[in-house]
Amino acid sequence: MHSSINFKPLESIGIIGVGKIGGSLLARLSASKEFYLTASDPRKERLELFAEEYNVKTTPANEEAAKEGDLLIIAVKPWDVIPVLEEVSPVIEGTQKAVVSVAAGVPISAIAGSLPEGIAVLRVMPNVCAVVGLGTAVVAANIPGQSYLSAVTNIFRHVGDVIELPEPLFDAATALHASGPAYVALFADALVQAGVREGIPREVAIRLVNGTIGGTAALLKERAAYQIRDEVTTPGGTTAAAFAAMEKAGFAAAVYDGVEAAAARARRLVG
Ligand SMILES: NC(=O)c1ccc[n+]([C@@H]2O[C@H](COP(=O)([O-])OP(=O)(O)OC[C@H]3O[C@@H](n4cnc5c(N)ncnc54)[C@H](OP(=O)(O)O)[C@@H]3O)[C@@H](O)[C@H]2O)c1
Repeated sequence: MHSSINFKPLESIGIIGVGKIGGSLLARLSASKEFYLTASDPRKERLELFAEEYNVKTTPANEEAAKEGDLLIIAVKPWDVIPVLEEVSPVIEGTQKAVVSVAAGVPISAIAGSLPEGIAVLRVMPNVCAVVGLGTAVVAANIPGQSYLSAVTNIFRHVGDVIELPEPLFDAATALHASGPAYVALFADALVQAGVREGIPREVAIRLVNGTIGGTAALLKERAAYQIRDEVTTPGGTTAAAFAAMEKAGFAAAVYDGVEAAAARARRLVG
């Protein structure tokens, strides 16, 4: 299943787990043609897709991806991270390889503790908008990993914006931007339902809501959220009436409670 394409091996990266996050990263890194890539995953059909469509070297063996990559990106579910690290540790022993995990709730200390001593470990918390190249991610590193921060930042920039953040804030960031697309989708769905309740045909409501959210996202690049809010809110007008009703129903408090609950969950996700 190995591709015969010759890559200019600027950097070799092994990605373990090519689902939503690992797969989108792999697709964009492959398109950049800057990296020599190897992917491992138990799903044969996913490996075949990447081998055929993206000319990536694929293997069902995590050890092989670990052997090939100078940088190893672990993109499996949080509870699979430690078993995967234990599996690839013998390959990493005595090398200069660096390990990046994108898993929610698995701290750098637990990752480093499952690897040979002194290995560079970085944590990246992305979000699913990476699939369309518009992701947002935070990154942190242990001491040996500090020297890889800019290389890893550049790698994840292929799927969106990357910001360095101290690791103690990762669970809060997970609750904010990693779960964030789901909150926006929840709001979008509620807005569509509200439009339908007011008599707007569903397909029209969906188009209006999607356009509104996309347009607001573009506006947010130019000005702050409170400025957009104030621009739209005519004193005594319709939006002001909506705000009064939404606040009475506890809209902002529901958002605060949701993010707090997600952060608390992230803190006890593994172990
Ligand atoms: N999705 C998000 O919005 C998001 C946001 C931020 C962070 N993350 C983090 O990103 C990580 C991956 O999430 P995801 O949403 O991309 O999950 P996903 O779509 O389920 O992808 C995980 C992939 O890893 C494969 N896998 C399972 N066990 C493996 C093993 N032992 N060795 C190699 N591959 C294995 C899975 O195969 P099977 O399907 O057969 O199990 C799947 O293809 C998670 O730790 C999550 O916390 C996700």
